Amino acid sequence: MSLITLGIESSCDETGIALYQMERGLLAHALHTQVAMHSEYGGVVPELASRDHVRRIIPLLRQVMHDADVPLAKIDAIAYTQGPGLGGALLVGASVANALAYALDIPVIGIHHLEGHLLSPLLSDPAPEFPFVALLVSGGHTQLMRVDGVGQYTLLGETLDDAAGEAFDKSAKLLGLDYPGGPALAKLAASGCPGQYKLPRPMLHSGNLDFSFSGLKTAVWTLVKQSDNHEQTRADIACTVQEAIIDVLAHKARAALAQTGLNRLVVAGGVGANQLLRNRLNEDIGKRGGAVFYPDLEFCTDNGAMIAFAGALRLAQQQGNKDYRFNIKPRWNLTEITKKL
Ligand code: KG4
Ligand code: ZN
Repeated sequence: MSLITLGIESSCDETGIALYQMERGLLAHALHTQVAMHSEYGGVVPELASRDHVRRIIPLLRQVMHDADVPLAKIDAIAYTQGPGLGGALLVGASVANALAYALDIPVIGIHHLEGHLLSPLLSDPAPEFPFVALLVSGGHTQLMRVDGVGQYTLLGETLDDAAGEAFDKSAKLLGLDYPGGPALAKLAASGCPGQYKLPRPMLHSGNLDFSFSGLKTAVWTLVKQSDNHEQTRADIACTVQEAIIDVLAHKARAALAQTGLNRLVVAGGVGANQLLRNRLNEDIGKRGGAVFYPDLEFCTDNGAMIAFAGALRLAQQQGNKDYRFNIKPRWNLTEITKKL
């Protein structure tokens, strides 16, 4: 029987726990989102996030063990998000993971949150084969990577300022929508008409694979200020914002495939849940004979399954340890864990 890996995610505002086994796949997973708690403040309050992780993590763990019908003694290894993320929030997952691994005398491994996102489409069926281009679009990151295998990541381009998720969130805020803004903006945009307004497509023709979204935010601010506050106007603006962001992402993803000569694109991170982005990429890349892979919708945003899975892959490479002195890495560049090609 292959190893059973417990995964713990607590880097931001979601507590995620999962059990993964290579032969059988995901055995069980559970998630608690703090969205309702933070929405009152218009964004994540780090101290409240940490405290809530403390409250939720053990009950969620119990639930997952129960759902999978796996006793603690049957866990072979523990993977946890070591960074990047909120310091206090990361500490909760890291200390529970290390304490439990110590008590059970099993290996533990710290996982890079973005590696979790990056590999999450491999949990789906069909899973993409290596090598592929990954478009990583989360609340804090917008990156195009070439992925040749586990730990073999080459950065092709990234945002110079705001992330795509941030552009969604900040525009949503300007439109008076609640946090988290991405899904709210997408919902409002569904009743808007495209082409009513014009917004810039920053760096569309920059000739490289980098992004910039901070100018878009300023343009949306100006547009909102100049417009009336009717529901239809706001929907039309939302629609225009979404189109602008998607246009840039789709254009650069296509260019990354052309540059690398690869035909598989993997989309990961919260913005990958956006249906219009999915439609657009499927159409654009499908037309060129390529294929686009996504995680299942529930694994687009933060979750424990992607951490258990990335942990299982790294443990298969003998990368776990039984040294339970841990540290967390609130700032951690993905390229630091890239194996030299
Ligand atoms: O990956 P994620 O859950 O957390 C980070 O690691 O950052 O991504 C969260 C981001 C937020 O900016 C959120 O607004 C955005 O993903 N998001 C969306 C959608 N669902 C989540 N953006 C656009 N459309 C969506 N449907
Ligand atoms: Zn994330």
